[in-house]
Amino acid sequence: MKVILLGAPGAGKGTQAKRIAADYDIPHISTGDIFRENIKNNTQLGLRAKEYMDQGLLVPDELVLELIMDRFKAPDCKNGYVLDGFPRTIPQAKALDKALEENNDSIEYAINVDVADEVIIDRMAGRRACLSCGRTYHIKTLKPKTEGICDYCNSNLVLRDDDKPDTVKKRLAVYHEQTQPLLEYYDKKGILYNVDGTGGIDKIYNDIIRIIEA
Ligand code: AP5
Ligand code: MG
Repeated sequence: MKVILLGAPGAGKGTQAKRIAADYDIPHISTGDIFRENIKNNTQLGLRAKEYMDQGLLVPDELVLELIMDRFKAPDCKNGYVLDGFPRTIPQAKALDKALEENNDSIEYAINVDVADEVIIDRMAGRRACLSCGRTYHIKTLKPKTEGICDYCNSNLVLRDDDKPDTVKKRLAVYHEQTQPLLEYYDKKGILYNVDGTGGIDKIYNDIIRIIEA
């Protein structure tokens, strides 16, 4: 199964993608997580990506594509994957389609997690992220068992640099301009599904499951 989760920054793509990946035994591929991992390890790629990420801008398509095409070669992708944060521009979506078509393959579901901008600004301010395993928490809605510590790997939780309110506003503007056009792109292909991304995490997950089990 090949699924794309679309949605604004902070819509809950990562939260839902992790559950889909666990339940369907497919990898969760988040370009943002891969970039953050590279930043943590001070790689060349990380250094280049950080310049853009810290400003709330998108990393250039060529960098993203190089990284993701390489990731698809890993053996764990043989039964599919859930993509979170990729594609994010029309050229990225076209490159993905082209790569899949070469193998007579295609994306089955592009699921848009729909959340209003005001709700997002609130969520991001309360989000705490584990930079080791990529899990996210929220200081009100999804608390870790011990404050400030990841339940899974015991690392410290942090406020991401790009979750500061001014950067979030910039990320939202970039989303509307460069990523939102993907909704029409996938709608035309007949694989776009919308879910209301407000309300409980379980309710949203059930809505997603209903789509992929239909
Ligand atoms: P990325 O890491 O992908 O960030 P994003 O898309 O901005 O999305 P987030 O991870 O911020 O949000 P999310 O939708 O995963 O929400 P989450 O589940 O955490 O990318 C970061 C940067 O990398 C980009 O800005 C860009 O620079 C670069 N980049 C990455 N991919 C790229 C690409 N393809 N091309 C170019 N550049 C790229 O949830 C958010 C919070 O809300 C959490 O605290 C969570 O606990 C909480 N929450 C979730 N669901 C609910 C709910 N239902 N109710 C209440 N709270 C909830
Ligand atoms: Mg995420």
